[in-house]
This record gives sequence, C-alpha cells and structure tokens, in this order.
Amino acid sequence: MTNSSLNTQTNQADGTAAAGVPEPGFAPDLLIGIDRGRRDLRAQLERGLRDAIQDGRLPVGTVLPPSRTLARELSLARSVVVEAYSQLAAEGYLHSRQGSATRVRAARSDPPHHRNAASEQPSSVSDIFQTSLPDQGSFDTPTQRHGRGIRLTSGGLPDPASFPRQAWLRHYRAVLTDQPDASFRYPQPQGTFELRQALAGHLGRVRAVRTTPDQLLICSGFAQGLSLVCGVLRSRGVTAVAVEDPCFSYHRRLIRAAGLQPIHVRVDEEGLDVAELADRAVGAVLLSPAHSYPTGAVLSADRRAQLLDWARTADALIIEDDYDAEFRYDRTPIGTLQGLAPDHVIYGASTSKILTPALRLGWLVVPEHLLGDLLAAKALHDLGTETFGQLTLARFVESGDLGRHLRRMRPVYHARRDALVDAFATHLPDAAPAGVAAGLHLFIRLPQDCDEGALVQAAARHGLHVEGAARHWADPRAAPPALVIGYGALHETGAARCVAALAAAYADCARP
Ligand SMILES: Cc1ncc(COP(=O)(O)O)c(C=O)c1O
Repeated sequence: MTNSSLNTQTNQADGTAAAGVPEPGFAPDLLIGIDRGRRDLRAQLERGLRDAIQDGRLPVGTVLPPSRTLARELSLARSVVVEAYSQLAAEGYLHSRQGSATRVRAARSDPPHHRNAASEQPSSVSDIFQTSLPDQGSFDTPTQRHGRGIRLTSGGLPDPASFPRQAWLRHYRAVLTDQPDASFRYPQPQGTFELRQALAGHLGRVRAVRTTPDQLLICSGFAQGLSLVCGVLRSRGVTAVAVEDPCFSYHRRLIRAAGLQPIHVRVDEEGLDVAELADRAVGAVLLSPAHSYPTGAVLSADRRAQLLDWARTADALIIEDDYDAEFRYDRTPIGTLQGLAPDHVIYGASTSKILTPALRLGWLVVPEHLLGDLLAAKALHDLGTETFGQLTLARFVESGDLGRHLRRMRPVYHARRDALVDAFATHLPDAAPAGVAAGLHLFIRLPQDCDEGALVQAAARHGLHVEGAARHWADPRAAPPALVIGYGALHETGAARCVAALAAAYADCARP
C-alpha cells in the first residue's frame, strides 16, 4: 500500500477560487491510500476523495488540483483522475466546469436534527385505500412462454435461470447447521445483526451509502419499507408525498393505501424536475435518482444539488429507491444521495433486481430521528422478517458471492440490452430506446400517433406480450405512447425475433 499526499486549496476569503494549482510548500492535508498492486486505481481514488468529502476533510469549496497535477502527484495516468473527477461530479460531490477549477460541491451532511420530517403539512389527507392488488402482469416471470407467446412484461426482473442456486444452498445449509436453538424464536424486528452488518459494509463500498448496522432496517422488499415509511410520515402529520411522473405505478397505489396523497412531479432527461417539486406542499419525495423508472433518466448533478437544498430548506425527507443501480453498463453507477445527506434521506433497496424478488428481502437505511418509529411500525406489521433467508444473504454478501454474482451478470445483461437496442434499430427504427444503459428494462418511445394499447394487443396476436408504459403516468390518457420491455431473461439470440414480431404488430396498427 502506498500513501500519496493530495494537496488542496480552499477558497480565498473573497469567495473566489484560488488558482487550483498546489503552491510549493503547501502542506499535504489529505492522504489518499492507493494500492498500485490492484487494478481498480480509479475506484480507489474515487473512494478516497468521496470519503474525504463525506467526513469533512475536504470541506465545501475546496479546490482540487488540476487532474494533470494530481495524476503526477499520485503517479497515476491522467485519465484515471479525469474519470474519477467526472464520476464524483455526476454524483454531486464535485463541481467542475470547463475552464475553471474543480471544487467540492456538497460536503458531509448537516448535523443531525430531530425535527419531524414534515410536520407543517398544509394539505389534507385524501385518496385513502384506493388501491387494488398489483396487476398480475407486473409480477410474472420476466420472460416466459405464455400460452403461445413470449412474455416481456414485468418491468425488468432478473433472469430466474441465473439465480445462484448452488451458492445459496451452500450458505443456507451452513446457516441451518450452525444456528443455535435461540434462532428459532421470533426474529428481531430490525433484522439480524449479521445481515445489517454485511449490508452496511457492502452499501458503503458499492453505493457510497453512509450507515452503521444500527441504522439499517430489514424489510420484506422495498415495497414493505415504503409502506412503513408512509405510515410513519402519516402519523407525524404528513399528508402528501411527491412522486416522479412517471413512476412505478405500484408505488403510487401503495402511497395511497397508506393514506397519503401522491403528488406528481414531472421527470425529464435530467430526472425529477426539482423546481416543480419546490412549488408543491409535500413532506417527502420518492424518487430513483440513479435510474428513474420507467424512463431510465438519471438525476443530473445540478438537480441533485437542488434536491438536497430543497430537503434541507423545507425540512423534508427524500426517499431514495435504489432499485437497480448495481446494473450500470456504460460507466460506474452514480453514488447515492444518501451518502451526501444521510439525515435527510431514507435509502431503500432489495434483492429484487440483484438476485430475485422471490426472496422478499429489502432494506432501509434510516436517519436516526425516524428509526424508533419505523422499528415500532415494523414490529407491529409482521413481527419481523424471516431469519434464515437473512442469515443466508449475510453469508452470501460477506463471502464475496454477491460481488461475484454481480460481476458475472453485468456483462450478460449488458449484452442482452445491446442486442435489444440493435434489434430496434434494425426492425423498428420508428421506436426509440430512451434512458441510460442500465438496469433490466428498456423504455421505448413510440411515435406520437401510435396507439400504445392497440400495439400491445396486436403484439399479443403475434405471440409477444409487452407492457404499455401509460399506466406508470399519473394520467395514463395524457402519457406519450411507449413500452417498457424487461430483458433480464431475453437472450441476445431472441431479441431480433421479438422485435421483428413487434414490428409486424406495429405495421398491422398502421394499416387503415
Ligand atoms: C422502481 C422499482 N423500485 C423498487 C422495486 C423493488 O421492489 P421490491 O423490493 O418490493 O420487490 C421495483 C421492482 O420491480 C421497481 O420497479
């Protein structure tokens, strides 16, 4: 391990940036550990800088050395530093504009405060229990033979055939063999310490989440976590929660079922429109900044900064649904908002995309001021999540099997996505895949005059079951025509055949 020093300059008293070049004799004030024996030099540098910003060693406004200088200082290729800066800028930690110095944008979070997340809620409660059960279509196997056809619905689930059965069985067997009789009592409502500890380490490493095992709450998928959060918010006087428009329609129904009103805020290419959010009287916002569902937009660095400002100013809560961030194919995934402002963000994720939704294992990282209420709600809800699946997952994470599984699946899903995008370019160029290269679903924009419902029906006649995107909009009638295609289980060799069938259906619809 080699420790290299990183000289930095802070802002001048007049607020202007210093030149950004470390002055001779400037005391080294930050040590970044770079292990040159490893291949992940960029990841190490990113982590070192992110940690330094999070723990305050690099305060807001600090000017970082130009990439060339830092590269020389650390004996790294300049491209490594440029990529690390660019990643941290995308995550909202750094601010860089062409021609000016790179500086720290967001620092460690505010000191913890214990105010009610949104006690001054003016609006009234409405729309209680308007929910119905989720459509079966949303929860079927992602790609399966369906009667005479192929089903590409489900909004993007992992390939069930890729579930690591052997490794899971091995860990499950070890758990059942090793556990003392005491483990066969009711579970701890917060979740087993083993899983919380494993996840705290994993999330810190992989998603830049800032947590200890004590802040983690294990739940039955993100769905239960969100439901519990809504219940607690409601008990604290919150009446409305902002959601992305469009968003996963099931979450909207779930929010209503919890007695809260979903308030819809537009999503564009830069993610949630924070200016529109700021005009709404809401106590919390639910969003997926790393990969908005279903459009595939990523919250831009500027919007991330605006959103955190909004949460701090409005004393509101951000609920970060990090459902598929492990699968980013064109670059390193964007780090979490939670890492930038742990006191204002509830972070949530689950095994549903990385392994399988069948496990029903999810987790929340909760700010201290909400933890007690959420634990009470969880205990009341179901007396805790099943123990042995949790312990198995803990071993799966700690043994490195989860990391191996993700490294194995990323290129597989990437190839399936590329094949699908290529198939659209070849067979149905009128339809445009949108969103970043990530996740397990593809959002397909259709021409404005295409009748989405008619196309879905025509596709079924050609043996292809696809999902229209309209139901994910607040007002499905006003939604632009689009499809959501889950490709987790769609092998490259099948992509062209599926899109050719869709193109035939499209041609049927166009016929007078
Ligand atoms: C947007 C979004 N968030 C979260 C999830 C995961 O939910 P759960 O953990 O309850 O299975 C999904 C699953 O499809 C999803 O589409």
